Amino acid sequence: MPMETANMFNPASKVSKISHCSSMEQYKQMHAKSLKDPEAFWGEISKEFHFEEKVKGKFLDYNFDTTKGKIFVRWLEGAKTNICYNCLDRHVLAGKGDQVAFYWEGNDPADAEVVTYGELLKDVCRVANVLKAKGVAKGDRVAIYMPMVKQLVVAMLAVARIGAVHSIVFGGYSADSLADRMMDAQASVLITADAVWRGPKLIALKEIADDALKLCSAKDLKVKMNLVVQHMNKVTAPQPASNGTAANGNVAKKTHFDDKVNWDPLVDVWWHEAVSAASSECDPVWMDTEDPLFMLYTSGSTGKPKGVQHTIGGYMLYTATTFKYSFDYHQGDVYFCTADIGWITGHSYVTYGPLLNGATSVLFEGVPTYPHTGRFWEIIEKYKVSKFYTAPTAIRALMKFGDEPVKKYDLSSLAVLGSVGEPINPEAWLWYYRVVGDSNVSIVDTFWQTETGGHVITPLPGATPCKPGSACFPFFGVDVALLDEEGREIKGEGEGYLVFRRPWPGIMRTVYGNHERFETTYFKKFSGFYCTGDGARRDSDGYIWVTGRIDDMLNVSGHLLSTAQVESSLVEHPSVAEAAAVARPHSIKGECLYCFVTLTEGNTFEDKLVAELKNKVRSKIGAFASPDFIQLAPGLPKTRSGKIMRRVLRKIAVGDKDFGDISTLADPSIVEKLFELRPKES
Ligand code: PRX
Repeated sequence: MPMETANMFNPASKVSKISHCSSMEQYKQMHAKSLKDPEAFWGEISKEFHFEEKVKGKFLDYNFDTTKGKIFVRWLEGAKTNICYNCLDRHVLAGKGDQVAFYWEGNDPADAEVVTYGELLKDVCRVANVLKAKGVAKGDRVAIYMPMVKQLVVAMLAVARIGAVHSIVFGGYSADSLADRMMDAQASVLITADAVWRGPKLIALKEIADDALKLCSAKDLKVKMNLVVQHMNKVTAPQPASNGTAANGNVAKKTHFDDKVNWDPLVDVWWHEAVSAASSECDPVWMDTEDPLFMLYTSGSTGKPKGVQHTIGGYMLYTATTFKYSFDYHQGDVYFCTADIGWITGHSYVTYGPLLNGATSVLFEGVPTYPHTGRFWEIIEKYKVSKFYTAPTAIRALMKFGDEPVKKYDLSSLAVLGSVGEPINPEAWLWYYRVVGDSNVSIVDTFWQTETGGHVITPLPGATPCKPGSACFPFFGVDVALLDEEGREIKGEGEGYLVFRRPWPGIMRTVYGNHERFETTYFKKFSGFYCTGDGARRDSDGYIWVTGRIDDMLNVSGHLLSTAQVESSLVEHPSVAEAAAVARPHSIKGECLYCFVTLTEGNTFEDKLVAELKNKVRSKIGAFASPDFIQLAPGLPKTRSGKIMRRVLRKIAVGDKDFGDISTLADPSIVEKLFELRPKES
């Protein structure tokens, strides 16, 4: 095979005959039009949606240049709409009330439920009425801390229906993290569930939420209601094996749920009781397109999470359009995105994108390896999934079990396989394509961020010949540039900072409560550009290869963490004087955390302390942030101005002695000492 053919994957898959964009020629024309005349391009698309009032001001107005004043982005000025109406009522009114919106698949394969668009609308109205009765009104923030159940989708749409703002906190976050986010958002209501099984593990959500509420009330945040879904009485508990371990061999912390949750009658309200008494009709509140829809917290390099705020109109157009084109969605498809709604992927591509397109999706509560390692593939066969979207970390974790668990199932329904969260290594890409996709699918490696709202660089099935590991080309409306350190544009082949020259409809509008932080984080470095914080390379064919973060962020299993966030958790332990965290490559997680700790006088570095420190990070941030390695550091490699030289720590973490120039360190001898102290298992 000539080299070029070996590297290029022709999109001549199952989708090519019907795809919305079926050639590179068509892609180029559409992309050029989207940049030349955004109003004509997005105006045409907006006709598919219901706007109660039309655009009265400018279709697009923005400033990306900090030297010219405040940064702002406004799309569809003066128009009024409601995203919940567009997700549900619009389809029900068009006679699609009986169509399945979600096949809910529980943690245990025995638990499943079907939800139609008509049922979803009624449930949403009931919850909207419950919220209204509690005084929740336009602009109020509602925190949501829930498992992957249909009530989570209902809750977010109910909030949107009445013009309130949702702030969803991933169910794997700790009480501290939930409380921090609720306080920053000044949320007046919390919606949660009693608990959930995730694989064999029990997550006691209500207990964690109760702890978070205590922290909030200690800081004077008055929460009017904690609306609690009773979930555990409806699901099958994992069967503990006779030796006391749960079914897949992992030891479960708790193997039963005792039905009792603490109850504070002043704030706690059972969802099922409130909802059954509420009316199933509720008029949507017509909102300004630039009113906030939600905020979602993402790690910031200072350690304090940022409330990324998205608004209604642009986000609606963008998630709907990216969903339609990136997955080449057609009526009749069954779509399955494995992301948790607590992350942006779940917001945009479990809830909003699919529902805006009237799609049928699988909503999965569990994990890929429970009760067996073929669970994803079993679900694909069961529902005849045609479009599947997951993360490289999941692909790598499943790859290690070999091809056999995949081959057991009939996956012939698959036509498009998506990837998101981090650069996908070519080996994983090829396995996904060949083994899962039977070399007869389109792979879409979608690059985007919480901040971008939707895909910004992605192949289009049926149009883009793919190169494994490249996210390929910008989506419609996205104007990519690569800049060098001085802000000079790199034209043609080369590597630099990945930036965007103008806004697409789905870009975030501000950091909640801190517009200055929004400007500094994304626009200060290069005037006139939105800076992603990622590096990228453009090859001789114009393909974009995202190389990863170039700031102090880590990407663990597709979740962004800042070094500062981890370090501040570690130094909270009384035995730690100073800490530094770096990323170390990991075969499944992509990156894992490797931490260095300097101890306070009189403390010794022992296994017990390491366990306590790992726990500290888990309880401050969440289990997904638990460090893989912690090593003793008699001192840290600092420059004379006191800045930690992280590149040296990264080298030590991987056992590489090629430290480069360390002459600017205040004490270069510390580097050798740190190398000696590397833990044996590393
Ligand atoms: O570094 C990039 C990486 O994930 C970051 C965004 O993380 P977050 O806001 O949590 O959103 C994740 C889901 C959209 C980016 O700055 N990233 C995400 N997708 C890719 C990626 N890196 C390379 N290729 C991707 N497809």
